[in-house]
Parts: sequence; C-alpha cells; structure tokens
Amino acid sequence: MINTSIKFLKLLPPEIAHSITLKALKFIKFKLDTSEDQILHQHLFGLDFSNPIGLAAGFDKNAEVVKSMFSMGFGFVEVGTVTPKPQKGNQKPRVFRLEKDNAIINSLGFNNKGLIKVKKNISKIKNNFARNKIIGVNLGKNKNTLNAVDDYFLGIEQLGDLSSYITINISSPNTDGLRDLQLRGNFENLIKQIVKKREEIESINKKPILIKISPDLNEDQLRDIALISLANNIDGLILTNTSTKRPNNLKTKNPPYKGGISGKPLFENSNKILKKMYNLTNGQITLIGVGGISNGSDCFEKIKSGASLVQLYTALTYSGPLLVSKIKNELIYLIKTDGYKNISEVVGKSV
Ligand SMILES: Cc1cc2nc3c(=O)[nH]c(=O)nc-3n(C[C@H](O)[C@H](O)[C@H](O)COP(=O)(O)O)c2cc1C
Repeated sequence: MINTSIKFLKLLPPEIAHSITLKALKFIKFKLDTSEDQILHQHLFGLDFSNPIGLAAGFDKNAEVVKSMFSMGFGFVEVGTVTPKPQKGNQKPRVFRLEKDNAIINSLGFNNKGLIKVKKNISKIKNNFARNKIIGVNLGKNKNTLNAVDDYFLGIEQLGDLSSYITINISSPNTDGLRDLQLRGNFENLIKQIVKKREEIESINKKPILIKISPDLNEDQLRDIALISLANNIDGLILTNTSTKRPNNLKTKNPPYKGGISGKPLFENSNKILKKMYNLTNGQITLIGVGGISNGSDCFEKIKSGASLVQLYTALTYSGPLLVSKIKNELIYLIKTDGYKNISEVVGKSV
C-alpha cells in the first residue's frame, strides 16, 4: 500500500505530490513508533533527544503535520522556514526531481504561511500532544525586508517561547542576499544582535540558538563562522543547507541551473564541511549533520564525522514513511557491531 502510494506520488509534479502528502499526513493515523533504544539517547543543549534523527526544515514549513512526523519515529522535528509575513515564494515550477540521482533541486524561496499561522499551529500541537517533544523553529526573512535582523527578531519574539530551539537560517540559496549574512562582518553583527535579543527576553534567555549554514562556503568563511560562533556561545550549527553547485558526476543531464540541490549528491560535500567544522570548533559546539542521508550507514558516517544529531528531507520523499524506523534499526546495529556503548561515543570518531 505504501509502496503503491509512493509510486503514484512520483508520477505527479513534485510540489503537487508534496501538498497531497501533507494533506494525507494530517488525516492518516500512524501507529506511534515509540520504540526507543536507550543507546540512541542523548542530552544536548538542555534537551533530551530519544534518537538523533530529525526532520529537516522545509518539509513541514507551517507546522501542519508535526504529530505524524513524530509517529514516523523522528526524534525531533524542525518546522519552517517561517518568515514574519506569509509569502508565496518564487515562480513555479520551482521543485525538480532528479530521480536517477536520488536528488531534488528547489528554488522555492520561503513560501510559507507566516508567523501568526505557524504560532497557532505550534500552540495547538503543544497543547494536544507534544508538550515534551522537541520542535525546532527555523526562521527566515521576507523577500522584501531590507534589514534581515528585524525579521529574525520578530520570529524570536513570536515563536521563541513555543519552540525547543531556534534555527537562524542564513543559507537558503533562494532568497537574494540571504547567504551574504554568512560573511564575517555581517555574521558577527547578526549573531551579536540575536544573542543580545535572547538575553533581553526573560522567557527565552536559555533557548538554544542554532545557525544553519551552506555547503558552498570556503575554508576562510568556515573559520570565521566557527570563531564567531564560539565567541558568542552559539549552541549549535546545522550543516548543511542545499548547494548551488552541481557535482559533475550527476546522472541527470542538464539539471536546472537555478536553486539548491539536496539528496545523495550533497552527501559527500556536506560531510566534508561537517568534518571541517568539527575540527574548527574542537567539538565544542553541537553539530547537526544534514545532506544526503538515506540509510543507517549514511547516518553513522555523519555522526562519526562530528554530528551529534542528523536531519533528513529528500530521502523521505523517495523512500516513504518507513524510512526513519529502518534507519534507527540500522544505526543501532552499526553502533553495537563497532563495539560502542552508546551514540555519544561515536561522535567525531573519524575526524
Ligand atoms: C523542497 C525543499 C525545501 C526546503 N526548504 C527549506 C527551508 O525552508 N529551510 C531550510 O532551512 N532548509 C530547507 N531545505 C533544505 C533541507 O532542510 C536540507 O538542509 C537539505 O535538503 C539537505 O538534506 P537532504 O539531502 O536530506 O534533503 C529544503 C529542501 C528541499 C528539498
């Protein structure tokens, strides 16, 4: 039944398939996957993660299907990217499947329903079932906002209290100028202001702040980000977002030029960035590894490369809802086979 549905969805244009998936996920009752092995448990930035596998931002931009995602077995769910005002995003078509490469290219441009709607949705979830679940909120800026920090402040003020952690997304390639916020002067200025804002609001002054960065940064830029993050007590870095580079070993001929690539072709480069960041931060900042994970072995490699947690998106669209349980089982097997007592022991082992 699940395999037939996945085959059917793949016949549709990707954005239509995604909106049907979201509608279905709102109504289908999954059997809750509550089977958690203690070997996968970690306590990180003040939160208890029952397993390290999270839903990456972009799948549930408006916090509409969080319950179903936990039922699939995710240890945490990141909603968003949400911008202060609702916006439609870039012109369609803007999502392309690269089936032969197990990849997606998207140039969505933060299409989302805005802070007010997302706040309502998260409040409902928190009241109904997810009081103890880890829900991160990924914040962005509206296309026409000139001073980006204003939008991040609005996001923090509106959603900081309701979220388990806040992600500052400065790495989407589909909003003009956004990725420039990763450059030294801009980055330092932004981070200092955001950290100060968190201190000013009493109810969130211990809320973890994470920064999501691009796989297309060079060595110097990564070093700047590491040093500034360490100096300002940033809790975590998420590596990485999608890439505007097109690996030359893609099987798909003439892939779309615009947009960011995700899935398998991103795996190698995002791991490289992860390892470098683990080195640059001496393991002192929690890293979340994302990019191209499709099985337990990919996940194990990310953790050995320095990630304490991982996230995925693209593989879910190719493999369907049983993927998360499968990855967890494979991961437990790999941890035990290599003689580790728990997942924390694995972090950074191959760096
Ligand atoms: C269609 C699509 C939309 C995405 N939207 C967002 C987004 O709104 N915010 C964000 O931070 N990342 C977004 N991402 C990036 C993912 O969160 C993730 O970083 C990237 O896809 C790499 O992981 P994957 O290879 O497992 O997909 C999006 C990815 C895809 C495929």
